[in-house]
Order: sequence, then C-alpha cells, then structure tokens
Amino acid sequence: MSYKVTLIPGDGIGPEVVTATVRILEATGVRFEWESFAAGAEAYEKYHEYIPKELTASVERTHVGLKGPVTTPIGGGFSSINVALRKQFELFANFRPIINLPGVPTRYPGVDLIVVRENTEGLYSGIEHEVVPGVVESLKIITEKASTRISRFAFEYARRFKRKKIHAIHKANIMKLSDGLFIRCSRNISKEYPEITYGEHIVDNTCMQLVMNPYQYDMLLLENLYGDIISDLCSAFVGGLGLVPGANFGHECAIFEAVHGSAPDIAGKDMANPTAVLRSGILMLHHLGEHQAGRHIEAALAHVYTQKKHITRDVGGTAGTTEFADAVIDAMRTIAPPQPELQEVEM
Ligand code: NAI
Repeated sequence: MSYKVTLIPGDGIGPEVVTATVRILEATGVRFEWESFAAGAEAYEKYHEYIPKELTASVERTHVGLKGPVTTPIGGGFSSINVALRKQFELFANFRPIINLPGVPTRYPGVDLIVVRENTEGLYSGIEHEVVPGVVESLKIITEKASTRISRFAFEYARRFKRKKIHAIHKANIMKLSDGLFIRCSRNISKEYPEITYGEHIVDNTCMQLVMNPYQYDMLLLENLYGDIISDLCSAFVGGLGLVPGANFGHECAIFEAVHGSAPDIAGKDMANPTAVLRSGILMLHHLGEHQAGRHIEAALAHVYTQKKHITRDVGGTAGTTEFADAVIDAMRTIAPPQPELQEVEM
C-alpha cells in the first residue's frame, strides 16, 4: 500500500527542506506517491496561475499535502498563496506544537505548548481598499461560525489528547465586537468541556506572560493574526523557526507545513534546517495512522540532536541541510523503531 500525497516544495529554502524531508520519510519504509506542484511566482511563470488547477485537483484527490514555504511579495504584488490555499480547502485549524527537542539547549527547557490558530478569516481576509488618497481601510472579519469551529477543534483536541488548559487570546478590550465575538464563542464551547480549565488573556499581556513563564500555558487559542505572531514568538522557546512544525486541518483534507517562511537570506545555500518541515511530516505520518514510522523519525532526530555532530547553523552546528538529512537517515538505520504505544490516536 502507498499513500498519495500532494507535494508543494515551495520556493526559497522550500525545495531544500522538502527534499530532505521526503528522503527521510521514505527511509521509514512507508511508501508514498508524491504528486508534486509549484505554487506562487514559480507556478505563475509556468501556468499563468498562482495555484495551478492541477494542484487543486490533486489535493481534492489525495486529501493530504506536504508543503514548503512560498514567498509572498511585501507591500504589493500577488496575495499570499498560503492564505489562499487555507481558504480554498477550508483548512480552518492551524495547529502548531511547540515542544523542545533533546539536545537543543534553549532558555526554556521542557516547553510543551500548543498554538491553535484560526486560519480562514480575521485580518487575513485581505479585504483592503484606499478610501481616499492617504487613507486605507483593512477589514477584520470575525464570524460566529469560524470562531465556534476553531474553538470546537481546540477543545476536542484537548479532550482526546488529555490536555489540561486552554487560554483564548484576544484584544476584546479594544476590538469589542470582533474579538468580543471570538471569546464569546470560545467561552460557550468551553462550557461543554468542564474537565479542561478555560482562561482568557489579552494578547499584549500574553506576550509578556509567555516570555516570563511559558509553562503557565498549555494550549493557546487565537484568531488568525495573533496566532501568526505568537507562534513565531513561541518558536524561540524551542530553538527557533527551524524547529517548529505545523498542520492545517479542515474537515476534508490536511496540509502539513512548517511555521517558517521561505528564508530568502539563506535560500540555495544548503544552510536551512529541515527539522520544522520534517516534524510537520511526522505530524502527517500520525495523521495517516503511521505512528510507528513517526516515532522512528522522532527517535532518530533525538539521537542526531543529542550527538550534535551533524546539526545545522541555526542551532549552533556547522552541517548543511543534506548532511543533516543523511545523519537522520543513518540514525534510523542504527536505532530500532520504538515499540508501539498502547493507545495511539490519529489526528
Ligand atoms: P522566515 O520564516 O522565512 O525567516 C525568518 C528568519 O528565520 C530568517 O532569518 C531565516 O533565515 C530564519 N529561518 C527560517 N526558517 C529557517 C530554517 N528552516 N532554518 C534556518 N533558519 C530559518 O520569515 P520572513 O523572512 O519574515 O519571510 C520570508 C518570506 O516567507 C515572506 O515572503 C513571507 O511571506 C513568506 N512566509 C511564508 C510562509 C509559508 O509559506 N507558510 C510562512 C511565513 C512566511
């Protein structure tokens, strides 16, 4: 049996970190049929479409995607392909686990925090216009439907995976209607999950609280923009953007991608850390029910990071992307796959 997966290598460091990840995923013995497509500027050159029809058809067929970052021009040009893909496939839940890796020392050891970000609306609706020259308006859309759906996702996840606390993060003191609606929805849903402690914090205070003591939080539930910003902040707890994975879940399909972007400053230099995309690939393996393969890579990653001989520059090493991937594959050959756990739950 093999899994058909839509592959979007992306641009910048995308192709480098996705190639490394594909090699490692294939080394588990799980078989994949990759359907690979360009997106963004590269796709536009080839197909005159930023999201080619073939890519859309592939995701509709496979229901699973693995994606590298795609560059979005700043202050003009085309709209974000990442945002467009999330909207197109109603990938409403952006899931970002922030967990330290053994062997990567940071100021905050032992962090285990999950960021759940609403992925389809808020200021990312991208509805902007110039009212008169010198005055622009950008609309923040918050709906009861999307706020309830993302809250339900977070609480269901917490219940299934025995998490203890959820904090809804907001700015409802200023945005009384929009963020007010968001927290009203999460508050309502929280009542159905009495075993999970529910709290609400204002987003600016949350930034300070996180830096002072990230351990006070278990899961953060945020609208789109706050989720984007706070997940980059949280990535620093575990060693930076090169390490933090992500998944975009909808009811029909899921696309797995790192939190980081296309990192133009290091693109094409074999310097990028593929761990974040690889850990997104591990989330994909768990989603597919391939828990054993997922844990095998986790064990190999832990080995490579503990040995510190083949780690990339962002975490204090000298290895390139390819050398790191080779080391993970070597470690998988020498480390036996961990025994299955009694109860493993598909995400
Ligand atoms: P970025 O995440 O690409 O880079 C920020 C910093 O982190 C840079 O110093 C970069 O070198 C470093 N970094 C990121 N990933 C790394 C990795 N795997 N290994 C080592 N270092 C890494 O953020 P930036 O510069 O703000 O955005 C660049 C482009 O990426 C923009 O066009 C942005 O729109 C796009 N982007 C795309 C995303 C996606 O496709 N999901 C997500 C975030 C940004």
